[in-house]
Amino acid sequence: MFKTYFSIVNELTERCKKIYNKKVLEHFKNPRNQGEMEDPDAVGKAGSAECGDYMFVYIKVKEESDQEIIDEISFETFGCAAAIASSSMLTEMAKGKTLEEAEKFTKMEIVEALGGLPEPKIHCSVMAAEGLREAIKVYREKKR
Ligand code: FES
Repeated sequence: MFKTYFSIVNELTERCKKIYNKKVLEHFKNPRNQGEMEDPDAVGKAGSAECGDYMFVYIKVKEESDQEIIDEISFETFGCAAAIASSSMLTEMAKGKTLEEAEKFTKMEIVEALGGLPEPKIHCSVMAAEGLREAIKVYREKKR
């Protein structure tokens, strides 16, 4: 017997509820700043060697008082629920930060901000931090 689309979605949602906390689920279901950005200043791509998933981070940078600040940020993640939640959280953490501050974000800071991830899903948060670092690197190279 074939499963309907909705029964599959319900099954996956129930499985996610068992392994992720409420904050992770909330960012997964309502990701902030998701989608391709029109005319970004730079795009960073990062992938996970562990699972083969990948993502893009888009940034727009403004200069203010001799500082370069992330004015807009968005992402596209072709990965799991943890990757989507991590990317969403990262965009909230990075917006308004200087490039120097934003490039220092670690996977564990993202994981802590999400209230934790199951151990096998920690690697999913690495992509978000690496994608942002890559976008900042591309931005600086373009400015040279
Ligand atoms: Fe690939 Fe999470 S399993 S990003």
